[in-house]
Amino acid sequence: MRVLGIETSCDETGVAIYDQHQGLLANQLYSQVKLHADYGGVVPELASRDHVRKTVPLIQAALAEAGLQASDIHGVAYTAGPGLVGALMVGATVGRALAYAWEVPAVAVHHMEGHLLAPMLEANPPAFPFVALLVSGGHTQLIAVTGIGEYRLLGESIDDAAGEAFDKTAKLLGLDYPGGPMLARLAQQGVPGRYKFPRPMTDRPGLAFSFSGLKTFAANTVRAGADDHQTRADVARAFEEAVVETLMIKCRRALDLTGFQRLVMAGGVSANQSLRASMGEMMRQRGGEVFYARPEFCTDNGAMIAYAGMVRLLGGSQASLAVSVRPRWPLEELPALGA
Ligand code: KG4
Ligand code: ZN
Repeated sequence: MRVLGIETSCDETGVAIYDQHQGLLANQLYSQVKLHADYGGVVPELASRDHVRKTVPLIQAALAEAGLQASDIHGVAYTAGPGLVGALMVGATVGRALAYAWEVPAVAVHHMEGHLLAPMLEANPPAFPFVALLVSGGHTQLIAVTGIGEYRLLGESIDDAAGEAFDKTAKLLGLDYPGGPMLARLAQQGVPGRYKFPRPMTDRPGLAFSFSGLKTFAANTVRAGADDHQTRADVARAFEEAVVETLMIKCRRALDLTGFQRLVMAGGVSANQSLRASMGEMMRQRGGEVFYARPEFCTDNGAMIAYAGMVRLLGGSQASLAVSVRPRWPLEELPALGA
């Protein structure tokens, strides 16, 4: 089976083609980052309009990249949620309509299941069961995963997502949107130990996260200190260390609770090098293993949607002819594969 995947849930238009036997045949991405930069965040209406402009050309580019024609595609997968409603509608409408015209099945993919399965695109894919740490711009969740669609939520953020905390803190450090990767770069120049940020909610049991206090802490620290480059780098360093260590403490707890030996990290923040290094070290010490996708498959992309769509199509899922999207869509509502 060969599946065309379309991702338009936020500010990236992603289109890819995944073949069950040959793997990834095409991967096209257009980032709207420049479009939204002046506003300091994603403007939903501008995002929708740009997806309208880019989705069809990217599909044509993906077919050309793979040297395929429409008749070579056996199914169309599109992100149906969670995400921005207008942005989702673009990919869903194009995907559903193309599948109808091409007389192939369509499948509505859950964006976070796409992220969760992205490490399966790599050479050493994780086996079940595993603990998944989903860390993106909109989500911070720990999930016990025993199979496709067998997701038990262990804990999540009660306020800002990890990526959101990165972006907000980056903004107050004067960095452009989306600030996560830029803050991480600035942190490399920071002196460790100059500032010590709290590790929110680690002093009590449980697997919930809270990151909104960190940006306030960063704001107060910046206000109290000198407004020079080194201070900003030191704040970035302390902030990143706090997020990484907090995530590590909660992952350790989730692994202890489940007894699982494998940890999968997915979503934009899992591209963070400091997080990867720290989790790698922790898992080595535990005698377990950590899995994550290459950086371009951690952030939003079409490849993960094509892959998740293929898995779901093979499991018998199919979208109805109605185009429907779900801006809010809890991951645990997904059915187990074949159920
Ligand atoms: O998964 P993603 O592309 O989109 C959502 O589904 O939200 O995640 C985007 C988030 C942004 O908040 C971005 O700042 C963050 O991931 N991010 C990073 C890094 N790369 C992306 N945060 C920290 N370090 C990075 N290297
Ligand atoms: Zn995402």
